Amino acid sequence: MTNRSSQGQSATVRVQRFNPDVDTKPYFDEFTIPLEPGTTILDALREIKSNQDGSLTYRRSCRHAICGSCAMNINGKNMLACNQPLKDHLDRKGRITIRPLPYQPIIKDLVVDRSAFWEQYQRIKPWLIPPEDIPEKEFRMSPEEVEALKNAEKCIMCGACYASCQVIGLNRRYIGPHALLKAFQKILDPRDSIPGERLAEVAGDDGVFRCHTIFNCIDACPKELNPTQAIETLRKLAQKRQAFEAMRRERQKSLIVSTPRISEPMGD
Ligand code: F3S
Ligand code: FES
Repeated sequence: MTNRSSQGQSATVRVQRFNPDVDTKPYFDEFTIPLEPGTTILDALREIKSNQDGSLTYRRSCRHAICGSCAMNINGKNMLACNQPLKDHLDRKGRITIRPLPYQPIIKDLVVDRSAFWEQYQRIKPWLIPPEDIPEKEFRMSPEEVEALKNAEKCIMCGACYASCQVIGLNRRYIGPHALLKAFQKILDPRDSIPGERLAEVAGDDGVFRCHTIFNCIDACPKELNPTQAIETLRKLAQKRQAFEAMRRERQKSLIVSTPRISEPMGD
């Protein structure tokens, strides 16, 4: 599995390099790094940058699979670098190949330009728009409604799903699995007052009917979410948009009426 040297075990890390200021096309550099128990792929990149080539460029922040910034392509599959043990991804010769996320312009080495990703996210208005008539204290959602939204809430916007979807490779206007999952979350949220407008947007030319049900987005998601199922649900809801809007109006009335008043503390 791994290389052995006089200093102990080591691994060979092949990293795609590209500096648009000087290179005409991407190429690979190889680095040999010591392999300690618990070394992650991100640790390997940090070892290279700190001790072998300070010009290596990549994104990272939290190192705990929370911020989503270290998503990259490892041996052909998109994943986070910070939560993956290096040894799990070495081939029989002790090698691993790291590339930037596909389908996006490379800024430098492993850093890609994610502008299109964020533009599509903005497009679905990823914020809650409550009704004018809001309860005095709080909306009371049912446990089932909360459960339905739980999965989409776990998304950390790493872009692994977006950069694994071949439809994005063909059509940069496609809203993409990341934004459609977030649209699903807002549309299913009973506190939101514009589900009809949201459904019209996701059912447009660049939306849910562009998805070819390729499933790559599910395989790539480091949080084991299911954008494909969300897209399928949105397709069905889009076909009965008006009825869904009417249902939402009724549900919102009951959300407000059923809000219990919290009693004031009793005076002496
Ligand atoms: Fe793309 Fe996922 Fe649909 S990979 S085609 S968004 S099922
Ligand atoms: Fe934050 Fe990997 S560094 S998710």
